[in-house]
Amino acid sequence: MTESSPLLVSTRKPLLAALRGERQAVAPIWLMRQAGRYLPEYRALRAEKGGFLALATDPEAAAEVTLQPIRRFGFDGAILFSDILMVPWALGQDLTFGPGEGPRLAPRADTREAIARLSPVDSARLAPIHETVRRVASALPDGVTFLGFAGSPWTVATYMIAGQGSKDQAEARSLAYADPGAMAALVDLIVDATVTYLADQHAAGVEAVQLFDSWAGSLSPAQFERWVIAPNAAITARLKALCPDLVVIGFPKGAGGKLPAYARETGVDAVGLDETVDPVWANSVLPAGMPVQGNLDPLALMAGGEALDDGVDRILAAFADRPHVFNLGHGIGQHTPIGHVERLIDRVRNAR
Ligand code: CP3
Repeated sequence: MTESSPLLVSTRKPLLAALRGERQAVAPIWLMRQAGRYLPEYRALRAEKGGFLALATDPEAAAEVTLQPIRRFGFDGAILFSDILMVPWALGQDLTFGPGEGPRLAPRADTREAIARLSPVDSARLAPIHETVRRVASALPDGVTFLGFAGSPWTVATYMIAGQGSKDQAEARSLAYADPGAMAALVDLIVDATVTYLADQHAAGVEAVQLFDSWAGSLSPAQFERWVIAPNAAITARLKALCPDLVVIGFPKGAGGKLPAYARETGVDAVGLDETVDPVWANSVLPAGMPVQGNLDPLALMAGGEALDDGVDRILAAFADRPHVFNLGHGIGQHTPIGHVERLIDRVRNAR
């Protein structure tokens, strides 16, 4: 990056402005998984509602959870409280979040036949989420940007195929090699469902959306082109045609050296970086002026103290000349002390 983008001193929504390419004097900040279990007020409401799915499908409660971190910390962005697995659920898989274990989807979509048996999108399952969006949009303080999201097709497919989280996504990677036609059918189905789902979120009130490709890092280069870049590009192009104002953030976790290709080829407006990406390197290889988001290690935030301060300073310095949204490299850990989040926000806001 050789030239600086113009510095805007005041904008009504600093996060949205940064995502649209206007560098802000103070980096706006939000955190992945900011609505969740590290907050005592979240744990209390979850216990009262009897579980994650009950909470996520209750618009009043889900709106409340979305707003909790805004009230407590004053983040620049609110992310909708929901989950990437709502799309498989709308495609007919049963979804459960058992106590102490990860999510489960059944039956598995792990063969051509099982994929063909998935249902058309059941919009009744997604309706409560859009109602949550409407409630949050009308309650959000001025200046706070509202973010929606969905999982990217590859990441969503890994859960649909294995029926649960898997360490190295072996089931999905194997299906992609053994039967690329079946994999393409599944990915196309998720692309279609995701475009409609995100366009509906925008119609209900979100201003930007993030595409979470949490398992992008498990693919070899040719597979990355086919199952990460191509579907994210298709979603972005179709969304832009339907919703020209909507900002799209791509988060290809673990993309490593494939990050510049992802940034150039998908058409996303901004790219989220995980904590393994060197911010100085990213700044030098990403297109000039392209907004970036990230990338403090969630474990540095959990540790606090110097690890936290040094991490923040290095990231802010590396991205000083481009539009930058401060975030973690992945979701905030459940055992993160509240005081460390306060210290992080203070450090970012008083840095320059
Ligand atoms: O960021 C936010 O605060 C908004 C809500 C949000 C959730 N999940 C709520 C949630 C978002 C954006 C997600 C994304 C998500 N969900 C991803 C992509 C990001 C990532 O972390 O890689 C993935 C892979 C999932 C699937 C998922 N949902 C898993 C693997 C789990 C269990 C493990 C875990 O991290 O908690 C969930 C459950 C889940 N989703 C919880 C929350 C707050 C915890 C549920 C509980 O209260 O027990």
